[in-house]
Amino acid sequence: MKRYKITALIFSIFLFVFFIYGNAPALAQTSNSAKAIKIIKAKGCLSCHALNGSGGSVGPNLSNEGSKGHSIHWLKVQITNPGKHFQGSIMPQFQLNSAQLEEVALYLESLK
Ligand code: HEC
Repeated sequence: MKRYKITALIFSIFLFVFFIYGNAPALAQTSNSAKAIKIIKAKGCLSCHALNGSGGSVGPNLSNEGSKGHSIHWLKVQITNPGKHFQGSIMPQFQLNSAQLEEVALYLESLK
């Protein structure tokens, strides 16, 4: 009986740890949207793209970018090397560091 209780306790601790870790990326994603928007503004994306009601119309509206079925990887390639997806693209190649790139791609993917 005692052994059963200890096993149950250890199992609950494992469940708890998995629960916390499992939710960590989701939490990071939502709390970083302000950061992502800051980067997007600083890089001048809005001179061509509309986002949440403001910005240009040279490129597609990004307000629902996450519903287009593009992967995080696709979004990163689009930002750093748009010519890979759209030959002769007028979108410039952007040099973001990997943390910024991750931030912006996760944010765009979350826009559904
Ligand atoms: C000079 C105008 C211009 C700027 C600045 C620009 N883009 Fe673009 N973007 C485009 C155009 C035009 C397209 C359409 C596809 C293509 O030609 O690459 C596009 C496509 C995209 C797409 C794919 C949209 C889709 O669903 O097909 C994403 C995502 C994107 N841009 C993100 C960004 C981000 C993030 C920035 C800033 C780091 C940025 N763009 C800056 C013009 C621009």
